[in-house]
Amino acid sequence: MSISEKVQKSMAEGSWIRRMFEEGAALKQRYGKENVFDLSLGNPVMEPPAEFRRELKRLAEHPIPGMHRYMENAGYAETRAAVAAQLSLETGIKFTMNDIIMTCGAAGALNVVLKTILNQGDEVIIFAPYFVEYINYVDNHDGVARVLPTDGQFIPKLDAPESVIGAKTKAVIINSPNNPTGVVYSDDLLHRLGQLLREKEAEYGTQIFLVSDEAYRKIIYDGLEYPSPLHHHPQSIIVTSHSKDLALPGERIGYIAIHPDCSQRKELMDGLIFCNRTLGYVNAPALMQHIVRHLQLVTVSVAEYQQKRDFLYDHLIEMGYSVVKPRGAFYMFPKSPQGDDVAFVTELQQWKVLTVPGCGFGTPGYFRISYCVDDRTLKGCLAGFKKVAQKFNLC
Ligand SMILES: Cc1ncc(COP(=O)(O)O)c(C=O)c1O
Repeated sequence: MSISEKVQKSMAEGSWIRRMFEEGAALKQRYGKENVFDLSLGNPVMEPPAEFRRELKRLAEHPIPGMHRYMENAGYAETRAAVAAQLSLETGIKFTMNDIIMTCGAAGALNVVLKTILNQGDEVIIFAPYFVEYINYVDNHDGVARVLPTDGQFIPKLDAPESVIGAKTKAVIINSPNNPTGVVYSDDLLHRLGQLLREKEAEYGTQIFLVSDEAYRKIIYDGLEYPSPLHHHPQSIIVTSHSKDLALPGERIGYIAIHPDCSQRKELMDGLIFCNRTLGYVNAPALMQHIVRHLQLVTVSVAEYQQKRDFLYDHLIEMGYSVVKPRGAFYMFPKSPQGDDVAFVTELQQWKVLTVPGCGFGTPGYFRISYCVDDRTLKGCLAGFKKVAQKFNLC
């Protein structure tokens, strides 16, 4: 075999989301697409907002000379300035373009951050359930992922890190609103986390970055205001993208923002820009940078996602499923009525409903539903959930 043993091993362990995708494709082939209810992928159902097409058309009709050339590795100054202005507005913290780097999505941003800050063997704390790629990304850059538990409401248990945060801890990754649970972390939790990190920094004479994955920051429900970790830890780095809030995952456009009060800010920025280049991203897509700088105030219809959440949540609760009500993103993470989540997901498949077992997110005993799907799929999946609920005597 010509590929590396490490890659062979990672591929064999695989991603459950990918596995379900492949099984779903086989089911669709066999029974017809319209008879399979696929809730396995976080691929936004919505089209990008009208403003996106307007900007795309404007650029096509009035191209800017040189708009497809190489640029500074951090991205266009105008785009970075627009992102900084929007972040300043949202957080009340004064960002400038010098705190922003445009990236190839949040995935690219995370890899750039981890490459920049990790020495071999440095530890990165993540909380289960987690976005499974974190494990791969930490490994990409010779780090060691330390997984910590959350409580019954999927809130990080801050007494657990007490024993785990040590001299080798370089970063803590948080993700709120969360994939796969939809949970949004409170200001109080972020305050306590910030305090804990600074205590540990003082104890070990280290710096611990709080890396906040905000891919779903703007998809937040019930009139909630987004509690930002920036207010609680100056060594904070935001990674995010427009994959979900503008429904542009295929366009690979996102950014890194570092807290303006971060220590050794210039060195950090220089490192991040260097890694954006040398990881081979070079820069974020030019066309998208020209467009999103005019769309910082625009999002897809969050109300529509909230309706989908309400519809599915209400039905599942009525059927007897145990679900923590999501406050953001477009996922929910119900308890598997049968302890074995893989067996339960397989059972649902018999009814042509595709979900992902919790073990794919480091948390067996649950399963993930992705409700960024059309209403036909949402309505169609109910019969399968009901049959399985009856089988397990939930009702
Ligand atoms: C929690 C989380 N972080 C990062 C990403 C990567 O997003 P992007 O498309 O911006 O790279 C995803 C994608 O689903 C995600 O769910």
